[in-house]
Amino acid sequence: MERMNKPSKLGRRLLLFPAPFHGHLYPMLHLATLLHSKGFSITIIQTPYNPINPTHFPHFIFRSFYNSLLESYSKSPPPDSFAVLSVMNNSCSEPFRDCLSQILHEAEAAAAADKDPIAALIADPMWKFAGSVATSFSLPRLVLRTGSMSTLLLYCSLPSIREKGYLPPQDNRLDELLPDLPPFKVRDLPLEFTHDLLEALVQETKTSQGIICNTFEELEDSSIARVHQFLPIPIFPIGPMYKHSPTSAVSIWEQDQTSIAWLNTQAPKSVLYVSFGSVAAMSKAEFLDLAWGLLESMVPFLWVVRPGLIQGSEANDSMPEGYLEMVGERGYIVKWAPQIEVLSHPAVGGFWTHNGWNSTLESICEGVPMLCQPIFADQDMNARLVSDGWRIGLKMEKALKREDIAREIRKLMLEEEGAQTRSRITTLKEKATLCLQEGGSSNKAIKSLTSYLLSF
Ligand code: UDX
Repeated sequence: MERMNKPSKLGRRLLLFPAPFHGHLYPMLHLATLLHSKGFSITIIQTPYNPINPTHFPHFIFRSFYNSLLESYSKSPPPDSFAVLSVMNNSCSEPFRDCLSQILHEAEAAAAADKDPIAALIADPMWKFAGSVATSFSLPRLVLRTGSMSTLLLYCSLPSIREKGYLPPQDNRLDELLPDLPPFKVRDLPLEFTHDLLEALVQETKTSQGIICNTFEELEDSSIARVHQFLPIPIFPIGPMYKHSPTSAVSIWEQDQTSIAWLNTQAPKSVLYVSFGSVAAMSKAEFLDLAWGLLESMVPFLWVVRPGLIQGSEANDSMPEGYLEMVGERGYIVKWAPQIEVLSHPAVGGFWTHNGWNSTLESICEGVPMLCQPIFADQDMNARLVSDGWRIGLKMEKALKREDIAREIRKLMLEEEGAQTRSRITTLKEKATLCLQEGGSSNKAIKSLTSYLLSF
């Protein structure tokens, strides 16, 4: 493990404080890898929930603080991610303050001996208190926005959406476009019980000294510019961030590599990859419709059935009787896949996704058109961007029956409508590749970010 007293190339240390969900931990780890490669030394502050194994990242220092509830959630799963968020924000402020105080105290001694002083904290804005704690230590703070900038723009706009009378959403207005926020519709608005949390996220972002975001200019330029009007602080769109680390380097769960061996036996662009991320869950009835829909589509599929995917069921024992025999060689089921390798595999022709932002961005960057089935949080908005904004995927209606599901799968994989989405996403993939090259938008943003961090 890296030692605190070993000076880095740039002579500056950064403290990173991720929210402990896969969709937030991965981009923070990619950012850590990127900034370390630029010459910063890195300390990651983490909690007992979804802890990262430090031995997988020997070049970073890890510091943890304790919270008994988060620890208990890491042993028996929490009711949902809102329960975790509530514990995070209601009972972690003091342990975080103590942990930070200790790190800063040690850093002072190291700096006196001419070793890497701390330049800044980079925190996930889901932590409501990171800003006030950092300010109390006069520590500069940036945020890492792990979701899209278009959804952040919508969160910034919630007060005006409310003023204009769109909240609470009325049944007869659900398909109206939200004014000045195309392609979002009234039905895509986040559920009202989450608004306090989202407004706190905006506030935590607004009071920071900069936003690092996992997107690229060519994808979200107008949303980035409009967020800047709401939050006039430096913005660094440096994505797609996973391209900065080796693909399997940051996985927290073990990835089943046999899925790649199975894909190697399949025809080009023939396979539908099916995965709903790390937290979304569905009812048993929805799961069964999905299973039968896949079978009836006659399309080859690779399906991630992670423990916890079915509400109230822990194990992978929910397949209908005789199902696996009926699927035979045409399908392959794993608990957790090496998703980026899967999406970049030539056999994969479509991605049936919940549209978590990481999955959406990975699909764009690997040029795989999507079948969108959002489940909660920002996923409805990401799916709307994919289907109606960039038109690189088809959105499934909610609660479809198996025959309709089979029809939608065939539309994406085999019909003209799917071919058009594939052609559009191929163009976006090229832009995603170019933005990282010398002189590209994300490449330039990384250079500005590095200089900015060195200015503290
Ligand atoms: C959560 C929220 O659900 C999502 O709405 C939000 O945008 C981010 O936080 P999650 O559900 O985990 O994220 O989805 P997503 O953002 O897509 O991240 C999942 C990550 O897990 C991706 O990076 C994906 O590559 C990885 N993954 C997924 C695997 O490595 N293997 C798998 O089998 C499935």
